[in-house]
Amino acid sequence: MPLTIDILTLFPRMLDGFLTESILGKGIEAGHLVVKVHDLRSWATDKHRTADDRPFGGGAGMVLKPEPVFSAIEQLQTPGCRRIYLTPDGVPLSPAIAQELARETHLIFLSGHYEGIDQRIRDTVIDREISIGDYVLTNGTLAAAVVIDALARFIPGVLGEEKSLTHESFTSKLLDFPQYTRPAEFRGMSVPEVLLSGNHAEIEKWRHARQVEKTRQVRPDLLN
Ligand code: ADE
Repeated sequence: MPLTIDILTLFPRMLDGFLTESILGKGIEAGHLVVKVHDLRSWATDKHRTADDRPFGGGAGMVLKPEPVFSAIEQLQTPGCRRIYLTPDGVPLSPAIAQELARETHLIFLSGHYEGIDQRIRDTVIDREISIGDYVLTNGTLAAAVVIDALARFIPGVLGEEKSLTHESFTSKLLDFPQYTRPAEFRGMSVPEVLLSGNHAEIEKWRHARQVEKTRQVRPDLLN
């Protein structure tokens, strides 16, 4: 059974394009995963379809109300599903987390306002909280998209070539080596000779050296 993902958001149209384009779009079309976007407001019960309100205790911004979120999650959840809230104070997304999520059968992603959501939601109907990095987005919808894009690459069949997963940054804890394609000479800039040599051992050696060099420059923390 393919992985099914429900996304709960106040801004469903932010995901237009994301679900139809590129490798993810092809993966969905091929049935490797199913993604459903839901407008949280459709679970609001008042005539203004209110999903947020001012924080108790004062402060700026709006807080997501418990009622529509509880109703939505209670309607969508299935036994064994994982309910995930996207928030800058969550556990940082890593390749290991992406890979773990790719093995699930049903995920529900909740995107909130950056000011927050009622704590009772987090205490009761959320299993896991994930951050995509130490910066604050206006809401979690793009964060949900990032997590889905990152996990989709671990679903068998989504990436055409299985090989493209093994070689890249973060699986090896080294950043990527530079890539070149035709033409071999462009505006006076030539492709490194070794890549044209056909000598695979030399090419591997060169690529590894470039990876170490790049990682030392940009992410020395990865070199323990
Ligand atoms: N919502 C707002 N900022 C976020 C972040 N950095 N990660 C996940 N969700 C968020």
